[in-house]
Amino acid sequence: MEGQDWVYSDKVKDHFLNPRNFLMGDESKFDYDAVGQVGNPICGDQMRMYIKVGRDKKGREIIEDVRWKTYGCASAIASTSALSELCKGRALDAALKIGAKDIDDYLGNLPKHKFHCSVLGHDALKEAIENFRKKSS
Ligand code: FES
Repeated sequence: MEGQDWVYSDKVKDHFLNPRNFLMGDESKFDYDAVGQVGNPICGDQMRMYIKVGRDKKGREIIEDVRWKTYGCASAIASTSALSELCKGRALDAALKIGAKDIDDYLGNLPKHKFHCSVLGHDALKEAIENFRKKSS
């Protein structure tokens, strides 16, 4: 493994040290519509994503707001922080399409061996959207 594989970009460090939309304290402090929780089969870390769903001008359901919390590592924290910024305001189906490559592009490359950490937020968001749809059907 090359030495560069262990280097985090400045943007990754910024999102790790100043995570966006991180849920501080009790989840009752955030007025959410659904929650998704997943575990990482590789490392066992957990991620929880809370979504507030609204509607845009065309009446489509969108991610109006989002919060998350995790026991994950620096890469999981930075990736989910990025995901939370990328998904806000998007229609639910569009939010589901945000993938590891979008997050990687947004952050300016995560170390390759940390890829499994970057999908944790996406999987929790998917679970939250599925749970929202189950509740509203
Ligand atoms: S090592 Fe577990 S989420 Fe990164």
